[in-house]
Amino acid sequence: LFTAVEMAPRDPILGLNDQFAADNNPNKVNLGVGVYFDDNGKLPLLQCVQAAEKAMMDKPTARGYLPIDGIAAYDNGVKALVFGAESDVVKSGRVSTVQAVGGTGGLKIGADFLKKLNPNAKVLISDPSWENHRAIFQNAGFEVDSYKYYDAANRAINFEGMIADLSAAAPGTVVVLHACCHNPTGYDITPAQWDKVIEVVKAKGLVAFLDMAYQGFGYGLAEDGAVIAKFVAAGLNIFVSTSFSKSFSLYGERVGALSVVANDKEEAARVLSQLKIVIRTNYSNPPTHGGAVVAAVLNNPELRAQWEAELGEMRVRIKAMRQKLVDGLKAAGVQQDMSFITTQIGMFSYSGLSKDQMVRLRNEFGVYGTDTGRMCVAALNSKNIDHVCKSIAAVI
Ligand code: LMR
Repeated sequence: LFTAVEMAPRDPILGLNDQFAADNNPNKVNLGVGVYFDDNGKLPLLQCVQAAEKAMMDKPTARGYLPIDGIAAYDNGVKALVFGAESDVVKSGRVSTVQAVGGTGGLKIGADFLKKLNPNAKVLISDPSWENHRAIFQNAGFEVDSYKYYDAANRAINFEGMIADLSAAAPGTVVVLHACCHNPTGYDITPAQWDKVIEVVKAKGLVAFLDMAYQGFGYGLAEDGAVIAKFVAAGLNIFVSTSFSKSFSLYGERVGALSVVANDKEEAARVLSQLKIVIRTNYSNPPTHGGAVVAAVLNNPELRAQWEAELGEMRVRIKAMRQKLVDGLKAAGVQQDMSFITTQIGMFSYSGLSKDQMVRLRNEFGVYGTDTGRMCVAALNSKNIDHVCKSIAAVI
């Protein structure tokens, strides 16, 4: 049965974790996967999460099956966070939100539903994009192409190219957009540029699928989420996948969601019924713990404030590390201007290093980033920054 089965390539991001774990270099630093580590190099367990879990342990509950679309308090919490609790779109019942197995799960549910709706549509992702976007939509049966995004020569966004590619797309094309903290480049378009994107999406009849895995890591929860309100205000039917992996440091709990904006309440109910079929036929219904923790925090004003403060600390620390990286590279002798690192936003920096340089960083210095040159600045800290800077300086 399996004689013809080929060995699949290692995952370009998560596969690095295995290599990192097996590395004996005492100075090794994992800047490969998009995970936030604190200044001691530790994965944080947020205080708000601990408080919610303690309350849950004080009143243990049995674990029955969840509804197919997840915990209602969780789904409502997501709606409030992403669209605004008092927004018209939420109050009028136009948003269908389902709990998903991480942001990846949200993307997959949306992709499967879209494939049923419009099987011949093409999908466009940014060039470059998160490594998994192409695979998720291809595995859902779509042909996936890309729109221009990164301008390597100018270390900027090729916005004209992006608009030209979107304008040339056929009606019904699904366009995957990074709502904030673009992964992998760290370059986001401006609010005025978003307006232009929305204009094209609307004029050309495209379907916007916004991936918002990093809400809160750019400028703040409301600031990063503002783009969603812009799409809603334009009267568009959109898909939004969200994740609490990073913002709650709950990576392994796989807590994400998919929200779909319909024209009215009745349409939203029909959409929800279809999303539930996708879920039921994939994994039946979501797991309980992570969703319950997030729901408890989002729906309790005290815990919610604590979460926002903890998320703010992570955001501020990442920004400080960006500056330290720029300064450290200069001190380590890097001649070229690396200040672009501080204009990038979110967890990642697209360093501009080649695959060969990234491989050398890994093999000779134990500094792990992706082959594309992406480095997770959220894993830098005051202890590993010197080693990282000296290592980068040695390969540049
Ligand atoms: C990343 O881009 O590193 C994260 O989103 C983790 C993942 O699943 O790839």
